[in-house]
Amino acid sequence: PRRVNLQDLRKWKVEGRKIVMITAYDYPSAVHADLAEIDVVLVGDSVAMVALGHDTTQKVTLTDMIHHCRAVVNGCKRPLIVGDLPFGSYEVSPEQAMSSAYRLIKEGSVDAVKLEGGKKITETVHRIVQGGIAVMGHVGLTPASVSAIGGFRSFGRNCKEAKDILEDAFALQEAGAFAVVLECVPQVVAKHITELLHIPTIGIGAGKYTSGQVLVYHDMCGMLQHPHHAKVTPKFCKKYAQVGEAIQEALENYRDEVRNGEFPSETYSPYHMPKEEYEQFL
Ligand code: KIV
Ligand code: NA
Repeated sequence: PRRVNLQDLRKWKVEGRKIVMITAYDYPSAVHADLAEIDVVLVGDSVAMVALGHDTTQKVTLTDMIHHCRAVVNGCKRPLIVGDLPFGSYEVSPEQAMSSAYRLIKEGSVDAVKLEGGKKITETVHRIVQGGIAVMGHVGLTPASVSAIGGFRSFGRNCKEAKDILEDAFALQEAGAFAVVLECVPQVVAKHITELLHIPTIGIGAGKYTSGQVLVYHDMCGMLQHPHHAKVTPKFCKKYAQVGEAIQEALENYRDEVRNGEFPSETYSPYHMPKEEYEQFL
């Protein structure tokens, strides 16, 4: 199948066909997303939290991101693949951002990059797009700023914040972004922004009126089922499966069968030695 491109996204926005996006971080998650005909796959810096166990996304490096991007690219034929520029790889200057974006494209092999922030990074977005790289924006809750924000929270629940998000989204569109993620904003705010922009909006915790939706793979699959981890699964995320429970059960069954000698049975002991070889061996 032909890879999804920016023209498809533009067309789908006009037709009102919703864009389906999911994160992936490795080969198996990428293959699953591809086989499920997901439109856009994001190698998110959320990898820091759901795959590497860090408390925030700030801890992931550009080198880490490239490593994960390469694995995802190996598993995805059809989806457009977007890679997150991580915290610290684009804020210093447009030049720093451009060199990071080029690395993510050339070494990570992704189709487009995403970075967080609105008005204050639009010069950077413009320069990256002028440099030939497709950019997706990300406004509302921007998790990479969590240490300055002081925790994860929703954005745009008062008029001032809602106006800021609208202006940020507009500025990104003007700078040449091909789409913008709206994270943790009220549905009415996301709806209004979606109606005013001509580029697609992708919502997460932003209600049903955006041009598309994105969820974090591990969260929507119910990968981390322990009470300890349940805390970090956001309340807007529907769990479409209890994959973590299935994995836990498999591991415990394996443990028990090894201990009681049930595994490996004859079926799983496939390498046989001819009798005469065996006798000689003894
Ligand atoms: O890193 C991530 O998973 C993201 C999505 C939540 C949009 O940026
Ligand atoms: Na991200």
